[in-house]
Amino acid sequence: MNLFDSCFLCLDIGTSCVRGIAHRVCSGKIAKSATAMCDSFNQQFAVKSVIDNLEHELGTHFESAYITGNFGNSEFLKHRQNTVWNGEHKITDNDIRAQISKLSFPDGFAPIHIMPLQYDTPSARKINSPIGYTDHQLVSTFGTICYETSRLNEIVSILHQAHIQYDGLFDPHYLQSMTLRKPDETILFIDLGAEFSTLSIWNKTGVCWHKKLPVGMSNVTMDLSKSLNIDFDEAERIKRMVANLIPRTMDRMVPADTAYDFSRGDVNDCLVPRIVDIIGQIKETAIDPVSEFMPTKIIISGGGTQIEGVVDFIENAFGLPAENHHADATVTALADYIWECAKPERDAYIIRAERHAVYINKIKKLFVKKPKKSRPKFIPIAPSTLCFNMQSPMTYKIFESGGISTIHVDIMDGFYVDKVAGGIAELKTIRANTRAHLHVHLMTENPAIWAANAIKAGADTIILPINVNGVRAALRGIRATGRRAGVAINPDIPLSALTPILRDIDEVLVMAVTPGAAGQEFDKSVLQKILVLSTTRKKHGLKYIISVDGGINADTAQQCWTNGADLLVSGSYLAKSNDFPLAVQSLLNR
Ligand code: DX5
Ligand code: ZN
Repeated sequence: MNLFDSCFLCLDIGTSCVRGIAHRVCSGKIAKSATAMCDSFNQQFAVKSVIDNLEHELGTHFESAYITGNFGNSEFLKHRQNTVWNGEHKITDNDIRAQISKLSFPDGFAPIHIMPLQYDTPSARKINSPIGYTDHQLVSTFGTICYETSRLNEIVSILHQAHIQYDGLFDPHYLQSMTLRKPDETILFIDLGAEFSTLSIWNKTGVCWHKKLPVGMSNVTMDLSKSLNIDFDEAERIKRMVANLIPRTMDRMVPADTAYDFSRGDVNDCLVPRIVDIIGQIKETAIDPVSEFMPTKIIISGGGTQIEGVVDFIENAFGLPAENHHADATVTALADYIWECAKPERDAYIIRAERHAVYINKIKKLFVKKPKKSRPKFIPIAPSTLCFNMQSPMTYKIFESGGISTIHVDIMDGFYVDKVAGGIAELKTIRANTRAHLHVHLMTENPAIWAANAIKAGADTIILPINVNGVRAALRGIRATGRRAGVAINPDIPLSALTPILRDIDEVLVMAVTPGAAGQEFDKSVLQKILVLSTTRKKHGLKYIISVDGGINADTAQQCWTNGADLLVSGSYLAKSNDFPLAVQSLLNR
């Protein structure tokens, strides 16, 4: 069975009940699971109905299954095999196989599990594995659990009639020991089945002792059926409803079932002695092995665990802590065991599949068109809001037609300059209308307050005048928010005013007009400033960009580029042009 992309089915075929767990596996992981059970002494019917239910749940058809359950009478054998070689010999897998092939089993019994319990060689006693060991003799002790061949054949034929084969047959306690026992623990397992009570002790080497007693919960049902004079199925039903090892005073007054006149007390009177007898037999059988192998706890499973008080009774009888793993312990252990066995292959498969997916994704990306980024490609021309109606949706359409990626937002407070223009409310409107980079030019006093408000309203770059109070603190504040920070230097201010902050800014906005109004003439003396800023930047490895604002047209733009500008702001030239995209292009000519 392939455990990477398929389904697997686990069945616990008991005398009075069949339980199943099925998993659907996709890409090495469990994608869907289902459980089903059928209470019936007709195993053929129960197996069929559990499989049908699970097939329906998972929408699949099973062809095979892993099987555990009541395999009938059992024999536990400890075999010793002795092989002697002429001279030294490197022990191999084949030597162990040869020893196993020579084991003999009682008539009518076949082995289900053969476990190496101990290996000895003359030069090393009690070795874990003889493989690769060089010696002239190997003595192995194998623990073997054998089951009646007739019952095994019966199970195979039940499966055959349900149109599935088996992938493996497992002893219930083998599965529980593999999944519930910690590596160093020694545990006494007790399964209270309908037909048998199975006892075994397992430690880190494997099975130390195993015994099946031909007494079980069906005997209890039989007793009830006889003494209360009801049929077997009815007795089974009453047992499940009422059976209790700790009778209560009121039980005498409470009818066991509305259909009958006997009380719960009557039921208990009848079943308690039988259960006590079964547990007595369990104790008597297990007492010597328990003192020999010294388990530290008991794990109890099977249908008998449903009777209240049974687990406590066993716990007291052995003076060992007992855990009730209920009737579905075995089928759960089977599913866990099978899943765990395939873990290394599953892990490798998942790693391969993930690597494959990464590779496929890379290839896919080559063929998938990249989605258009909503922010336009950068072009170094920023129209000034002073000359456009920023309330009109048309303005944004026009900007888009020219490929504009940066908008220069002029804000005047009436103090730093005489005029009042722009403002935080307008900035918010602009932000709501475009994904373009907002290049906010503050022509205001109180730069820190204005900057903070501009950032809240969506500014990406904030330019402050160099000649106001609080510039340095405001710059720090801007940069702390991760926005770009720059200063504007008016035509009449010398470059030396920038010296203390040049390392801390992202941009110098060279004003080619006195701030306050659009449409003024470009002051050619600033070309020298642009050049010096550009050479200083290169010389000292600085990072600021150089932008120019005021009086930009096709001519002055070219002069700015020549002297080292990176970004140009243009108001009236762009606003007055008849063809906006063409005007933008004319500014880009270098
Ligand atoms: C001036 C502003 C500039 C101005 C540019 O105070 O900062 O942004 O509006 O407009 P033009 O290009 O017409 O000089
Ligand atoms: Zn400006």
